[in-house]
Amino acid sequence: MISQDTIDNHAKLIAFQIYDAIEQKKQNNEHLVLGLATGSTPIPLYQELIRLHQEANLSFENVYTFNLDEYCGLSENHSESYHYFMHHHLFDHIDIPKENIFIPGGEVEPIFLKDYCVGYEKHMQELGGLDIQILGIGRNGHIGFNEPGSSVASITRKVELHHVTKRDAASAFGGFDFVPTHAITMGMKTILSAKQIYLMAFGENKKQATKQAILGDITDELPASFLQHHDNVSYCLDFDIYTK
Ligand code: F6R
Repeated sequence: MISQDTIDNHAKLIAFQIYDAIEQKKQNNEHLVLGLATGSTPIPLYQELIRLHQEANLSFENVYTFNLDEYCGLSENHSESYHYFMHHHLFDHIDIPKENIFIPGGEVEPIFLKDYCVGYEKHMQELGGLDIQILGIGRNGHIGFNEPGSSVASITRKVELHHVTKRDAASAFGGFDFVPTHAITMGMKTILSAKQIYLMAFGENKKQATKQAILGDITDELPASFLQHHDNVSYCLDFDIYTK
């Protein structure tokens, strides 16, 4: 059973860490680079960040954000695009400068795609790299849209979506056949380059993949298991991975 109190506590804790990191950077006249996820999992975190902005004067003026992924073929104002999601759930409610927001483009022409993906990585690095990366996890162990089979050395690129990912998105798109077949995602190497990572997983349907990611073998069949290579990951869960 999903415990709303546990989820809210995780959201508060991560939001406070972000608050603290932003404030520390501000004191040094520096900026913070935040890697963000979409989906249902980070929504309570985004609500908490909005609350801190509204009630505790948290400003995002010195923050840059890079989103993990976007569906190919969706315009920015499509209601299921991650552009729409991020504006609706976070950006429209905080004071982040529009030019500091980076989300992979879902409508980049195929001939420009390779350069576009290299540019996304380059821009992130020029800004100092990801300070904090927020992650959810798919039932098939994907993070971002690094589906089973993704290499640990992968960078931002176009990928084909796995059938489990499409099944999970089917109701939002009005059926499996209407889910986009491809997406652009940051790679595993990109994600692992973050200085600090928070992976959130809520609900029993995430338990198996999360348990395998943390306790199982490191394998490209479960890309989240590559996080075992990173020495600064916090797993924020509402279930016990040590029980069946
Ligand atoms: C989304 C993303 C995905 C989701 C994952 C879980 O930007 O990167 O990896 O985090 O599919 O989705 P939810 O939170 O909807 O269960």
